[in-house]
Amino acid sequence: MCGIIGYVGKKAAAPVLLEGLRRLEYRGYDSAGVAVLNPSGLVVRKKLGKIDEGIARLLKSRPVTGTLGIAHTRWATHGVPSDTNCHPHLDASGKIAVVHNGVIENYDALKQKLIRAGHKFKSDTDTEVLAHLIGDDYERRRAKNAVNGDDNTLAQAVCDALREVIGTYGLAVICTDFPDTMVGARRGSPLIIGIGKEENFVASDANAIVAHTKKVVYLNDYDVATVTSERFDVQNLGTETANVQISKLEFSQEDAARGQHAHFMLKEIYEQPQTIRNALRGRLDFEGATAKFGGLNMTAAELRGIDRIVIAASGTSWHAALVGEYLIEDLAQLPVEVEFAHEFCYRNCPLEKNTVLLVLSQSGETADTLAALREAKRRGHRALAIVNVVGSTIARESDGGIYMHAGPEIGVASTKAFVSTISILTLLAVHLGRLRHLSAKRALDVLRGLEELPKQVEKILAQNDALKKVAKKYTKAEDFFFLGRGYTFPIALEGALKLKEISYIHAEGYSAAEMKHGPIALIDKSTPTVFLVPQDAMYDKTMANLAMIRARQGPIIALATEGDKAIRKVADDVIYLAPTLDLLNPILASVPLQLFAYHIAVARGCDVDKPRNLAKSVTVE
Ligand code: M6R
Repeated sequence: MCGIIGYVGKKAAAPVLLEGLRRLEYRGYDSAGVAVLNPSGLVVRKKLGKIDEGIARLLKSRPVTGTLGIAHTRWATHGVPSDTNCHPHLDASGKIAVVHNGVIENYDALKQKLIRAGHKFKSDTDTEVLAHLIGDDYERRRAKNAVNGDDNTLAQAVCDALREVIGTYGLAVICTDFPDTMVGARRGSPLIIGIGKEENFVASDANAIVAHTKKVVYLNDYDVATVTSERFDVQNLGTETANVQISKLEFSQEDAARGQHAHFMLKEIYEQPQTIRNALRGRLDFEGATAKFGGLNMTAAELRGIDRIVIAASGTSWHAALVGEYLIEDLAQLPVEVEFAHEFCYRNCPLEKNTVLLVLSQSGETADTLAALREAKRRGHRALAIVNVVGSTIARESDGGIYMHAGPEIGVASTKAFVSTISILTLLAVHLGRLRHLSAKRALDVLRGLEELPKQVEKILAQNDALKKVAKKYTKAEDFFFLGRGYTFPIALEGALKLKEISYIHAEGYSAAEMKHGPIALIDKSTPTVFLVPQDAMYDKTMANLAMIRARQGPIIALATEGDKAIRKVADDVIYLAPTLDLLNPILASVPLQLFAYHIAVARGCDVDKPRNLAKSVTVE
């Protein structure tokens, strides 16, 4: 949610910043801007709109020179998307520029105080208030330190300002008095330092800088970093001593590029056979008929002692959590409760002594999910995580966890991370089951079934053209239902979410059985239903539910198991899935629904990688 990149070195800053902004665009795309320092002072360029149509064009027509600069791509929180509200923002003197991710909760009180002191504001943003606050503190410090000759004035002024701030921030600051220095800080919104040769970076996301360096430092909350072209220092507002560790990025520039695919979303859908292999790699133990994990940090006895698991997550990850509930309860007979992360945090639900919280997050930065993790830990419970982004805040703050190894997911609509999360949850359910009463035979069936999945997903991907044709038929529909039962119920929810977020078509996911209790009133000739009806334990009952829709003349698109001829007679269109275990159908059924949503969105002319109003990774509560 919003992206930051800063550069200090020997190269021209503007092209580095612009390229970084392009790589960060999935984080926010209302507007974008840069501030570059050169001998004439701070030059700020900012523009409403996506990077290529906005800031890139502006920089082409009005280039900026200089080797120090900061840049930002915005997802509006305070103030409408506009040139004025776009970052960077300047302080009152025009000497200090700030880019900021997060929300300053007490911005209004701070603004009123500054207005009383004579400050004038141009934008409606909380960030401009922060810039003025830093500027004020800077002038005060400078007056004092001119006498002492302190060259750390900018960082100290940032610290002074941040001590007054309530809220979250990942930010970067530059000042005309320090032509080789950036100051970065974080609380609640990620910020990293990228370490180069005679050049250094700050960024909210490693994607922005992976083309330049793989050596990074993940800042912790309350860290304030001073970064020059030759060195960096980190201090911590809370503890004074910062814990600085240099890490190596595990992905390359190519991994984060679109390649020959029309969209990142399509690329990521096509990566899923490999994503599943990566999730399973090294974790299948056929000899012990179980799954093994390196990072759970719990002994077998401790895992046996768990009496309940609460899974907390948001959005698509929450749908994966629902599948996790079915899997763990089925295979391990262990009670599971699924919570929206934001609800878990604030409703004070009872947690028994041996309850473990499991959070699921692709980005590892979702504010609601992070808050849930911290709440469980505050209450003395162990908190585990399944996360994709290595080194993310949730990965670092959890007591143990499992990485997806799915590679960067850039498309705002989550696809491969969803399938990866469910694959890992299946392994976890086997692992927990084998520590309890799950038979070796059933566990081995699951492991073998998992091994088959990549090939079965490839078969679905090979039906892409057929899926595209089906999708085209329904491009004009304005309302959709997605229905499933048992293991495919959560996938119906996810199918509906995928369609609405990228095509803006109203879609509802429901249990196929629940329809008759009310929503069926909405069915008519113009309201198609996507039915998930694999030949599983619920098949006969789901077919009966399907007949109810048919009787009301609702068009039906069915996802069925290969060889099912009966479905042809009652559905308008059929997409076939390979036969698998009931509990593996969620993975197979997800893929055609992703392609279906993708093709409808493309046919409607939507920007599938940057859907309106959304951003990858929501780092505000
Ligand atoms: O990074 P996370 O998995 O924590 O993200 C959670 C949701 O914000 C995310 O899944 C969102 O719903 C996606 N846009 C879904 O496609």
